[in-house]
Amino acid sequence: MSFYVTTPIYYVNANPHLGHAYTTIAADVASRHMRQRGEDVFFLTGTDEHGSKVARSAAAAGLSPKEFCDQVSAVFRQLTTDLRATNDFFIRTSDPEHETFVQAFVERMRASGDVYEDTYSGLYCTACEAFYTDDDLVDGMCPIHGTPPEWVEEKNWFFRLSAYEDRLRALYDERPEFVLPRARYNEARAFIEGGLKDISLSRASIEWGVPVPWEPDQVIYVWIDALINYTSALTYARPGEDLTDRYWPARWQVLGKDILKFHAVIWPAMLMSAGYDVPQQLLIHGFLTVREAKMSKSVGNVLDPFRVIDRYGLDALRFYLFRDVRFGGDGDVSYERVHDRFNLELANDLGNLLSRTVAMTGKYRDGVAPSGTVDPAIGATLERSAAAFAAHVDRFELTEALEAAWESVRALNRFVEERAPWNLAKDPAAAAELDDVLYTLQDGLRVIAVIIASFVPDAAAAILAAVGSDGSEASWDNVAPGLLPAGASAQLAGPLFPRVDEPLA
Ligand code: MSP
Repeated sequence: MSFYVTTPIYYVNANPHLGHAYTTIAADVASRHMRQRGEDVFFLTGTDEHGSKVARSAAAAGLSPKEFCDQVSAVFRQLTTDLRATNDFFIRTSDPEHETFVQAFVERMRASGDVYEDTYSGLYCTACEAFYTDDDLVDGMCPIHGTPPEWVEEKNWFFRLSAYEDRLRALYDERPEFVLPRARYNEARAFIEGGLKDISLSRASIEWGVPVPWEPDQVIYVWIDALINYTSALTYARPGEDLTDRYWPARWQVLGKDILKFHAVIWPAMLMSAGYDVPQQLLIHGFLTVREAKMSKSVGNVLDPFRVIDRYGLDALRFYLFRDVRFGGDGDVSYERVHDRFNLELANDLGNLLSRTVAMTGKYRDGVAPSGTVDPAIGATLERSAAAFAAHVDRFELTEALEAAWESVRALNRFVEERAPWNLAKDPAAAAELDDVLYTLQDGLRVIAVIIASFVPDAAAAILAAVGSDGSEASWDNVAPGLLPAGASAQLAGPLFPRVDEPLA
């Protein structure tokens, strides 16, 4: 099945922080997992470069918008690489191919009779790049940034969003899982029920953007331009090839709750207007917070992803973000919690289990898996974990997926304690039982590595190598217990997750 996964494209007004890493890693986990299951995945991320917010940051840096975007976009691209995201393309809205596509897209909307000229007068938050009404404001301030919006009065081209109310309502009626989790579906539906106003499709007072094809001294409103990236990318990501039929409609579009309305209301209407199918599902996550405040560069409460990676490794970051904060909800993150989760669950639960297993197989069975059978209770637990993990990822319940995997990690730890191989080794009559126990551990770790590979790709590869499994690409076909051949070697160069003594401050 074809499986197109997208992240929002990131504003280049400032450097990336952990909140951006979070969205990218979520989409990457889903993409990797679906590839393990043999799906035809295309994973897109990139940068959103037009609009007044970026133009102002460029001016403040003393650079032209293009020079500034080149610099900051490169930092986002580097983050993508450092997070080991397996994106198939990195789009920039300043790509000439994207700009041409945007012009063709809005021409299609216009051909549908959905575009007209009028005067916009109202409020605008540049940090959101969004228009607001008085009702949207909180104490007169932007509901997201808490800053005063600006008054804007200019001639704009408008998109007749109001004409799509019925069709959007029908979409939500027919597809109760169009938006997950449910609370966000309800919120999006409430927007629609509240009545939709037409929105600006262009801006007259801004220069940094895609020219309106029929009136080139206006530019396309940055959000219209940005949303179209999800379709434009497919037309030029592979030179000479149009991937649209293969991957559109997107299977999963991942985004934060702050940009729900753009994606759950405006974007489907734009697609309908231009004659495209709407995406299959929107997955909405909450905010990472630091002492309850949304993490953002401007608030200066940023948990630095690069420092976490330096001290604990990339896998620790990828694990922590979904283990500690329930995906979909908001949650506080801190260096102390990274530290505790790392030592408890990665270094102890998983890392020690692996070192103990390898050490015991080395000591009692010359470092190779004996021919034994998987303990039936452990086998059943591993099968349950694998099935539950996959089912949770299908619903984008990433935290629950990890929890399902950790049931097996904990079960194997209990199994070692209960069966005490060190005692069995003293009793020659227990040799066959020791074979079974050691085989169960070595094979069980292999299964766990396959299950969690999408979250912790490096650790999974290291575990597979340590238990002598040649299934290094962790195909889901290998998730069944008992597939490790007898004689597979058990060896480990150093600890999987070396303990860290001091948390970051
Ligand atoms: N450029 C727009 C998106 C256009 S998509 C067609 C934008 N960019 S952004 O850089 O501000 O945010 C991108 C994503 O990062 C959003 O999904 C947003 O929710 C997410 N996050 C930014 N800060 C965040 C946290 N503190 N926590 C979790 N995610 C956050 O919006």
